[in-house]
Amino acid sequence: MNWTMAARAERMNPSFIREILKVTERPGIISFAGGLPSPKTFPIAEVNAAVTKILTEDGEAALQYATSEGYSPLREAVAKMLPWDVSPDQVLITTGSQQGLDLIAKILIDKDSIIWVESPTYLGAVQAFTPMEPRVVSVACDDDGLDVELLEVQLKNTPADQKPRFLYLLPNFQNPTGRTMPESRRAKLSVLAKAYGLCLVEDNPYGDLWFDQEPPDTLTSRNPEGTIYLGSFSKILAPGLRLGFMVLPSVLYPKMLQAKQAADLHTPSLNQRVLYELLHSDFIPKHKPSIRALYKSQLEAMLGALEREMPATVTWNKPIGGMFLWLTLPKHIQSQALLHKAVEQGIAFVPGAAFYANESETEHNKLRLSFVTASVEQINKGIAILAKCIADEDGFQPTRE
Ligand SMILES: Cc1ncc(COP(=O)(O)O)c(C=O)c1O
Repeated sequence: MNWTMAARAERMNPSFIREILKVTERPGIISFAGGLPSPKTFPIAEVNAAVTKILTEDGEAALQYATSEGYSPLREAVAKMLPWDVSPDQVLITTGSQQGLDLIAKILIDKDSIIWVESPTYLGAVQAFTPMEPRVVSVACDDDGLDVELLEVQLKNTPADQKPRFLYLLPNFQNPTGRTMPESRRAKLSVLAKAYGLCLVEDNPYGDLWFDQEPPDTLTSRNPEGTIYLGSFSKILAPGLRLGFMVLPSVLYPKMLQAKQAADLHTPSLNQRVLYELLHSDFIPKHKPSIRALYKSQLEAMLGALEREMPATVTWNKPIGGMFLWLTLPKHIQSQALLHKAVEQGIAFVPGAAFYANESETEHNKLRLSFVTASVEQINKGIAILAKCIADEDGFQPTRE
């Protein structure tokens, strides 16, 4: 049979990260690559108890088709959980926040629509947007995220017919860089967004994973009708439950709902009820601090190992939450070439090139390290091996001691 595929299928490329994850499944590999939460944090006993309770008390409804908006008590609980004034009517339960990105692509992007993204940005968002054929334009960023001064210039210089449909950004513990946007920038961005009519998509799957201090208020709380908020339970419960949500401006809700209906009718009813049970017990308020403490200690182990082992030509940031840090190699070392050598030595990471929307701005000497899935022992061993691979590429460089 000759199947003729849609042109958009041509534009879908296998995720670079998924290819790397295949490598990491090899026995013996120490992986800093995947964005996988630590399985130690998965609430297996609590989910088990919740499933038993639901199936015993409400089994028929939990296994039946349901409304596309989501389980009403869950929508109420989500609205109540958020630290700004949210009506349950604005909440759309999604099958992971990744589905929210897909719905946004369908409802907000036409062929050649312009969308703005951070540089670098979350690869999965670019993958969700690309089939709709947008022109993806990057906005300038630095170690504190979006550079609002340069954004203002960009906004001033953008003719009306080049206006973006939205700016997609991750203010908290960004994937891939781990950086966080400070309050001053958020405040200025909100003012600019209102003044220039710039619509925002705020993706916040890592927001609860702060270490010492809560991040500043969300952008959505400052301008709810001008911002789409994407939330996720993947990082504080378990990604396999596939539970996320959108908080939507009222004007967008009906169309997003139709797109959701067409995509999967609704998010699994049983999973939604499990989440509702957990949100209603005192489990989550106790669980979040334990994840934060674990991830903070993992980060400290990785920072310690980097300090000890890395050549003096290598630098990295110190995230204040989340799961990733961003490492900068000397300019002449390409992280993609380094990956091949590192994998031979049993180490995996994600080369920075995977996260840039456009080749012209790609920085080939960056790489993303996840500090949450490997054990401390593996971190110590793996960073030492990685440092040796880098030193070998770089010629001999004295270590920091
Ligand atoms: C920035 C960002 N957005 C969205 C997602 C998708 O998360 P999920 O669909 O599991 O909620 C991820 C997953 O890692 C992510 O890093």
